[in-house]
Amino acid sequence: MAFIPEEFLTELRERIDITDLISGYVELRKHGRLSKGCCPFHSEKTPSFTVYEDTQSYYCFGCQKGGDAITFIRDIENLDYVESVKFLAERAGLNMPEDNYDDTLAKKKQRMIYMNKDAARFYHNYMMSPAGKKGLDYWLSRGLSMKTIVHFGLGYAPDDWRMLLNHMRSLGYSESELHEADLAKRSEKDGKVNYYDNFRNRAMVPIIDLRGNVIAFGGRVLDDSKPKYVNTSDTLIYKKSLAVFALNFAKSSGEKSLILCEGYMDVIALHQAGFTNSVAGLGTALTDEQVRLISRYADEVVLSYDADEAGQKALKKAMEKFSNTDLSVRALRLSGGKDPDEIIRKFGAERFKSIVDGAANEVEYKLLDAKTGLDLSTDDGRVKYMRRVVPILADIRNAIERDVYTSRIAEDISVSKEAITLQVKEVSARRNRQNQKVDFGKLSNTSKKMVKTKAEKAEETIIGSLQNNPDFLKKIDESLRPEDFKTEPYGHIYSVLTSRLKAGLPTDLIYLSSEFTLEEMGCVARIQTNSQEISNTLSEVMDCINVLKEEQSPKEAVPVSELSNEEYLKLFKQ
Ligand code: CTP
Ligand code: MN
Repeated sequence: MAFIPEEFLTELRERIDITDLISGYVELRKHGRLSKGCCPFHSEKTPSFTVYEDTQSYYCFGCQKGGDAITFIRDIENLDYVESVKFLAERAGLNMPEDNYDDTLAKKKQRMIYMNKDAARFYHNYMMSPAGKKGLDYWLSRGLSMKTIVHFGLGYAPDDWRMLLNHMRSLGYSESELHEADLAKRSEKDGKVNYYDNFRNRAMVPIIDLRGNVIAFGGRVLDDSKPKYVNTSDTLIYKKSLAVFALNFAKSSGEKSLILCEGYMDVIALHQAGFTNSVAGLGTALTDEQVRLISRYADEVVLSYDADEAGQKALKKAMEKFSNTDLSVRALRLSGGKDPDEIIRKFGAERFKSIVDGAANEVEYKLLDAKTGLDLSTDDGRVKYMRRVVPILADIRNAIERDVYTSRIAEDISVSKEAITLQVKEVSARRNRQNQKVDFGKLSNTSKKMVKTKAEKAEETIIGSLQNNPDFLKKIDESLRPEDFKTEPYGHIYSVLTSRLKAGLPTDLIYLSSEFTLEEMGCVARIQTNSQEISNTLSEVMDCINVLKEEQSPKEAVPVSELSNEEYLKLFKQ
């Protein structure tokens, strides 16, 4: 367990203001002693993420994440405990105490970052040497300039099983370290272990994080063979679901809008053509984390997916995800080329610029897309088009906006506006009826999750009261052991709290952060948030303890969560 002296944490707590810190990531609005904003950890449009000045903590009522400044940095920057403390110390201008704490993991990650940087340098230098001419020629043949090649740190992996391995060994890295970074693969035959280069005879694209570290690679074949790309699999420092390619460059493009493409090649070509606000996912379907990351750096995203069916399908999914955020979305429909890279090479940057400027918003895109495969000069085509378009119009909440598009379509296919409006109303009415049913279903689903067992509720009361009233410790400790807790992870939380209190140590969140996982911190923050409003007497807490002692079947689910505090306490007294 990481050990950082408490005096240091105390100082850190004094120097870092959590509201200040979080404002750098979330737009917060002040309401007295607390601030609210849209949660950076899940997609939402109405703020349920709350920051508490008094306890220097945060809690999201939507996704139940919570904790202190350190927890926040762990989660949002994807750092471990010690790295997060370092991150905050740097921000506060504090020097970290001497290396008497365990930072094995942080060191390992740092070494992996160096390793990737050395590998990137090797691939680049090899490409620039006579032996690597094949690789350089490949990039040049794709229309890239030397400047772009250097800017992106592109390279070439030799057509050899051990050349990178040998080079990296000479720099002091072990084979197993290379394997952990996925730069080398491992095979075992007759009990003999053998390592070999993962990337061979491939044009190499380094993947760089927001701090400028090389964290992974994509390697493309030079011809048409399969697989087209070999990519670094997830490692200690790389999760492909969390990364966004070229965001390190795009974040400082000065644009409020980001162009999101599908491929490395598109992004590289776009940057070369001056669209330095282009980024891409890493070959997987867009994840929630990527959406959140993008929304941190942009107000608008322009989806620029491939023109083929797969691309348009992915585009629709991406659009769906972004419509759950407060980002505005527009989408390109490319014609005359399969992807942005090809459009630029064929028609130039000007043309691409005009496509971007004229990009359709979500509704326009859907209306346009509805025409696919239909011949609007026939009655049949127009009827089918109407059928597709009506649900799209019914989706538009704003009445004026809906009216504008209805007129546009009416004119477009020479159908009376009234006829369309009527149909839209019918669809809306039908949906409302269905929604009532669906909502009911949803409601009973979520309330199932919210139902707490009697024990759970009692446990939360005990922990919350203990934190608010350290003087209850003696009485509580006499009657309750951590093993008496029925719910994970309350027993553990209780045991940490009591042992700290017994030792006369503070129990503010910042001191607990090293002991708990992110989920556990979320629990502690929730209990703290709830107990701020209610204060229980010692005798009420003792009642809760009795509940735990008496309760034999821990799974007994009583929907007590809806009861008021008084009603709930009455239950125990019966
Ligand atoms: N991809 C992958 N593995 C593959 C194919 C694709 O990881 N076998 C990912 C890569 O991140 C790639 C993206 O999906 O950049 C989009 O694929 P594609 O459009 O085929 O690649 P491009 O980057 O456009 O490559 P190119 O223009 O060289 O064909
Ligand atoms: Mn391409």
